[in-house]
Amino acid sequence: MQIDHQVKVGVLGATGTVGQRFISLLSTHPFFIVAALGASERSAGKPYSKAVNWKQTVPIPSAVRELVVYPCIPEHFTECAVVFSGLDADVAGDIEAAFREAELAVFSNAKSFRRDPHVPLIVPLVNPSHLSIIPQQRAVHSPPLKKGFIVTNANCSTTGVVVPLAVLEKSFGPLESCIITTMQAISGAGYPGVPSLDILDNIVPYISGEEEKIEWETLKILGGVAETDDGKKAFDMHAKHPLRISASCNRVPVVDGHTECVSVRFARRPPPSPQQVREALTAYASDAYTLGCPSAPRHTVFVHEEPDRPQPRLDRDYQQGAGVSVGRVRQCRVFDIKFVVLSNNVCIGAATSSIINAELAIARGVIQV
Ligand SMILES: NC(=O)c1ccc[n+]([C@@H]2O[C@H](COP(=O)([O-])OP(=O)(O)OC[C@H]3O[C@@H](n4cnc5c(N)ncnc54)[C@H](OP(=O)(O)O)[C@@H]3O)[C@@H](O)[C@H]2O)c1
Repeated sequence: MQIDHQVKVGVLGATGTVGQRFISLLSTHPFFIVAALGASERSAGKPYSKAVNWKQTVPIPSAVRELVVYPCIPEHFTECAVVFSGLDADVAGDIEAAFREAELAVFSNAKSFRRDPHVPLIVPLVNPSHLSIIPQQRAVHSPPLKKGFIVTNANCSTTGVVVPLAVLEKSFGPLESCIITTMQAISGAGYPGVPSLDILDNIVPYISGEEEKIEWETLKILGGVAETDDGKKAFDMHAKHPLRISASCNRVPVVDGHTECVSVRFARRPPPSPQQVREALTAYASDAYTLGCPSAPRHTVFVHEEPDRPQPRLDRDYQQGAGVSVGRVRQCRVFDIKFVVLSNNVCIGAATSSIINAELAIARGVIQV
């Protein structure tokens, strides 16, 4: 993709954990330039550097330090072609709907629209083809929209696991069953997140709503977009090949990086060997990379041979946090194959996904810039 001019973008929830990642990543983006910031009334009216409790390892980019934070109202964002949202889920629904209504392209991290039948749930390394629902999303709006739409990315633990699952399905046909056990980083709960007295020297074996999200979102992402006789599009939720998923989610004392232990059973008999699975994962190239999206990782999946990898501290920054690390690919005595996957929850699990989704929407002509 070739964009030779700057594209102005806004960030909603710019002061939060995900919002700060947006600010960092966008500061070096080849064509997106941050033009407007939004957060709550607590932050509105202040320069960004005064409103934010900056927690990144790089300084606040100089281009945004003095930008005044606005309340999340579309009239402050009219010069933006794209709006990235790191809004708290409690408020994201109404605010993002208002931005769509104001004909803005919204890329959201919140759960609010993930189950909407007209909103694509896109993990950019997996299912960019789901952008094809956008014309219908605009058309069902009253009055129909010309430019506005919402795209969501997945829950951060869903994102990590669907990447290898999608590669396995593309290479070896449908999966039948999948068991996922997560060890999720503290930053997944936003800032300040889980109190230190609850998480140090401890594991919390419950994350509200998370298991349901993995089990449901994976089906929407791995499924296709079907067309009915009257020309309407609908997400098929993997219905042609029912896939049973069982997830168990745990919060562990890791700052960034979600680790997930996965066992899968394939529909096909005999199933692929561990070596065939390793080769398929290593060879996978995402459409986002092939299309030239500048934030897409060159290598989507790195397969470790060492028996003690991937590890969050060592591997979460693979491909600047945009890639996924897999290890311990081996036979499963109950299902067919088991492995460990690690993904960076605040990068490919959140802000990086939204940015690549916006790049994809431009590359595919869904947004004209
Ligand atoms: N953390 C992760 O790894 C991760 C991964 C994937 C998805 N997500 C999702 O991404 C979203 C943001 O998560 P986070 O971890 O960044 O949360 P966070 O650190 O709590 O940040 C929330 C942001 O929302 C803003 N906000 C809160 N109430 C508001 C209101 N009434 N009006 C306007 N802005 C308001 C806050 O602004 P103030 O600073 O002004 O209060 C802040 O900028 C959530 O929906 C979360 O589920 C998070």
